Amino acid sequence: MADLIVKPATSPLKGIVPVPPDKSITHRALLLGALATGKSRVRAPRLGDDNLSTAAALRALGVGVTIETDGSISIDGVGLFGLSAPSGPIDCGNSGTTMRLLTGILAAQRFQSVLVGDVSLSTRPMARIADPLRLRGARIEGRLDPRRKGDIVAPLVIGPLPEPHVLSETRFDSPIPSAQVKSALLLSGLYADGNTTMSEPLISRDHSERMLGSLGVPISRIGALIELDGHAFSGTLPSFSLTVPGDLSAAAFVLSAALLVSGSEVGVRGVGLNPTRSGFLDAVRAMGARIEVATEGEELGESLGVVRAAASALSGATLGGEVVARAIDEVPVLAALAARARGITTIVDASELRVKESDRIAAMAAVLRAFGVGCEERQDGLVVEGQPDGPLRAADVSSQGDHRIAMSAALLGLVADGDSRVRDVDAIATSFPRFAGTLRALGANIVVEEGRNV
Ligand code: S3P
Repeated sequence: MADLIVKPATSPLKGIVPVPPDKSITHRALLLGALATGKSRVRAPRLGDDNLSTAAALRALGVGVTIETDGSISIDGVGLFGLSAPSGPIDCGNSGTTMRLLTGILAAQRFQSVLVGDVSLSTRPMARIADPLRLRGARIEGRLDPRRKGDIVAPLVIGPLPEPHVLSETRFDSPIPSAQVKSALLLSGLYADGNTTMSEPLISRDHSERMLGSLGVPISRIGALIELDGHAFSGTLPSFSLTVPGDLSAAAFVLSAALLVSGSEVGVRGVGLNPTRSGFLDAVRAMGARIEVATEGEELGESLGVVRAAASALSGATLGGEVVARAIDEVPVLAALAARARGITTIVDASELRVKESDRIAAMAAVLRAFGVGCEERQDGLVVEGQPDGPLRAADVSSQGDHRIAMSAALLGLVADGDSRVRDVDAIATSFPRFAGTLRALGANIVVEEGRNV
């Protein structure tokens, strides 16, 4: 297992860098390409471990998925009804998106599938997708969750879809804003006899709706209510070509490094600017960050552009509600920024963080305390006492095997009073394969000790 050794930054970070392609969009492009009729091409896809789990799962279901020499992916779409029964359990690795979105598709098949995952994924809640899918006729079994009463965890046994072999129409009011729940339900809606209607308390990332809509699926939204009209759907998806925008969730770490290190000016280009993903930008602006955004274009319904950040005197803020929903993967790095803000930052409405790749509330609280930052853990968030004057105390911390915790901790090391160590950082490869190299290109002094090249 690799560790990161982070030295305090002695000079400003400068430069314009690319960031990895968007993970969420790559997952969806793979899945929809598989269900489309004919050959689709996904250019500049994310090829991190999570997306490779989706590609491998589709191959196990008989779909030709080829990574070409230029790094693009060709998918030989088999059509909605062309998947074949897998010969054994399908391994979703560490990827919740793979497991949950695939379940929406597999629930509608006439064969049985078994989905398994790594230790972390095997503890993550799955009733949130199984329950609404069962309500429309799907057969899904899981292991009873030893920690959350009434929940289930992987392995999931899905299908075969019982008589009459078609999912029914449904109306589901999700108690949580979750793009994975929404997407699983919408994907199952491609196979339903009737409408798929769902609401969520706050709007979660809408890549699935945008991509389905741009492929001609009749899908509409009124506020947080979304409907896929099963009767108006033609029953086929056309093949497509897509260039994946850069991942704002990865860009957030690069931009945050610039906000933290005095004198820095950093830009990221080709970044996805989908408004349901851009809560990070609003949150840091509320904290006083100097951030500039220039929109450059659009790709299958997704806008992209350049984002620039300059070192900023941050102040504490209260972050919650829709901003947190639109920045759910960025809360750890927002907590790292809060450590350097003047005053108190209160993060609320983030209880979903308890069931991510790690318990990110507990993990970030431990990291902040190790760097000498006062913080209080709440059930749904964190209260952080900013420490903007003087360097933080250098620390030796564990990432808990979670990529976003590892990268957030590394940023704190840039403003500490000596060398910091972040342990067990291999998981960074799931979302930001060249994280350390990218920060080095901007002038940071970060080295990887043994293990994979992150
Ligand atoms: C994702 C949705 C979010 C997010 C995850 C990716 C997606 O999860 O945290 O990293 O691609 O749909 P939830 O839907 O569980 O909030």
